[in-house]
Amino acid sequence: MTIRRSLALCLACWAAPLFAAETVWLDSLDLSTMRQGWGRPQVNRSMREKPLTIAGTVFAHGVGTHATSTYRVLLARGSERFTATVGVDDAAGAGGSVVFQVLVDGKRVFNSGVMKHGQPGKPVSVDLRGATTLILLVNDGGDGVRNDHGNWADAQFAVTGARPKPFVAPKEDPYVLTPEPGPAPRLNFPAVYGARPGNPFLYRIPAQGTRPMTFSALNLPSSLRLDPDTGIITGTTPPAGKYHIQLAARNPRGGASRTFTLVSGDTLSLTPQMGWNHWYAHYHRITDAMMREAADILIRSGMADVGYDYVNIDDCWMNAEADAKRKPDPARVGPFRDAQGRLLPNAHFPDMKGLADYIHAKGLKAGLYTSPGPKTCAGYAGAWQHEEQDARLFAEWGYDFLKYDWCSYSTVVSKERTLDEMQRPYRLMGDLLRRQPRDIVFNLCQYGMGDVWKWGAEIGGHSWRTAGDLGYELDRIFEVALKNCEHRAWQKPGAWNDPDYLQIGYIGNARGGGLPEPCDLSPTEQYSFMSLWALMASPLFYSGDLTRLDEFTLNVLCNPEVIGVNQDPLGQCARVERLDDDTFLLVKDLADGSKAVGLCNAGYEAAPVVASWGKLGLSGAQPVRDVWRHTNLGRFQGEFRAEVKRRGVVLVRVGETRAP
Ligand code: GAL
Repeated sequence: MTIRRSLALCLACWAAPLFAAETVWLDSLDLSTMRQGWGRPQVNRSMREKPLTIAGTVFAHGVGTHATSTYRVLLARGSERFTATVGVDDAAGAGGSVVFQVLVDGKRVFNSGVMKHGQPGKPVSVDLRGATTLILLVNDGGDGVRNDHGNWADAQFAVTGARPKPFVAPKEDPYVLTPEPGPAPRLNFPAVYGARPGNPFLYRIPAQGTRPMTFSALNLPSSLRLDPDTGIITGTTPPAGKYHIQLAARNPRGGASRTFTLVSGDTLSLTPQMGWNHWYAHYHRITDAMMREAADILIRSGMADVGYDYVNIDDCWMNAEADAKRKPDPARVGPFRDAQGRLLPNAHFPDMKGLADYIHAKGLKAGLYTSPGPKTCAGYAGAWQHEEQDARLFAEWGYDFLKYDWCSYSTVVSKERTLDEMQRPYRLMGDLLRRQPRDIVFNLCQYGMGDVWKWGAEIGGHSWRTAGDLGYELDRIFEVALKNCEHRAWQKPGAWNDPDYLQIGYIGNARGGGLPEPCDLSPTEQYSFMSLWALMASPLFYSGDLTRLDEFTLNVLCNPEVIGVNQDPLGQCARVERLDDDTFLLVKDLADGSKAVGLCNAGYEAAPVVASWGKLGLSGAQPVRDVWRHTNLGRFQGEFRAEVKRRGVVLVRVGETRAP
């Protein structure tokens, strides 16, 4: 007995040091693979480089990060448990709100719900036995990522084996889904197009196929001319009414013909705008030469042949003040206006009218940007107190699109910012633009304040950003899409919710306006980006570096059937049918009676997704078409199911179509 007991004791003392779990602090791992929306991960301190503090409690250990943040860890055998206390750091500033999530082998095992600044920390304790991967996510709490400083405080692993190892997302090779366009003409214009009577008209027929190609039109109003070689229609928009014009294109390999309905009236942008905007590629580096090159590339690359036609300058084309902190390029520093108050472009934009003329000569449209405030967001001249003069100048130069960015307007309104104050500058500019003798599409950029989707159309807007800059939130395209879909009821032809630009291919890192580099999204996520924007009928502005378009990026941007879903004349934003935490359907009714359906998987593992006819409002046997691959998949009874890749969308059209 005594011997047995002492043997047992002895075994215990031998085994203890071998099996007791060791603590591995999260902050001791290599954090260079942690992706986050702003700044770098902080070890044992907050994003503001202060002690990690949640609701007054200070933590010696932990990692301070910023939404959206993703960190992947590979677990060795013997990983027992992950524990932490999570919360928004006290130094973040009011308004910070985040959601912490922990995924073990792709399954969400912890979800903090929305946590706000000042709220006490929440404990996390997750069983890791038998698991191989752990993902730590910090997402925005639904109000943008401003001040979203999330702490993984006291975060530690209990392990008896090897230390956990960070890893980057599995690399996926690019794959091409879009079929090569054939040699015969294919017409890619939307069914309807709005223009105002009596204004200058310009439209380049988007058509794929081998050039040279000859264009022709039946029932073209007499005030319009079609150039048979370029397919560019110019002239004056005819009196109010609907004109059903039969447009055709022919080359030695074949011909195509379709009806183009010109709706002459008060509403522009009857389908979502498409084009290119310089911001996420070139930031403060943009020049006149780069804008002209962008127009050349839209034509040369074939993007204009599927409908991308606006060539839009964003911020930084005017003058800035000398500023010791921002240090603007000296060639962009100068007086904002001349003695008559006329706005002065900076030295990189010597001829704004010449630039618009150059773009127009290609059949494309020109856009520009300013702020209702005294200065733009990057510190350049704004329109404050010169609105009328500027609107006239933009029209005189020949611009077709204005993005009006709130920026420093905050400095000229009350702190409370009443609804009237939010609307006032947009109402003013909306009226002014409508009075110009040309069609100018008006894009409101004020990040969704005052539920802009409810009143944007009323005050003259054609599209409005529904949230802050997507530049900080690329990891969140699914969440951003779900949020944007909440505003679907207010969307209609001529009035579009804008969740920001398409950022795929080469884009400049939004943190600090970096030089373009390959974007962080996997090929599947890049397809998802385009599928989601198509299903929401969001404006399609590519904002990557056009000089570095590769085959993959072009195939994502230029699929005419995917674009057809986006440009459908009903203009509907898809409704959401939630299936589980990670998967959902997006269902968009189309004008031909069929439905575009996205089988979406926002999760980090592949998942089966089922679109049952009941959820789509259909029954019986229904035809299904793969929109990306342009192939009919057959008739399906009761449902369509697909294995959807991690962060993927399978985009199909379901249902019979009725003749137009
Ligand atoms: C932001 C806007 C961006 C970009 C930038 C320019 O406010 O949301 O899209 O225009 O300003 O400074």
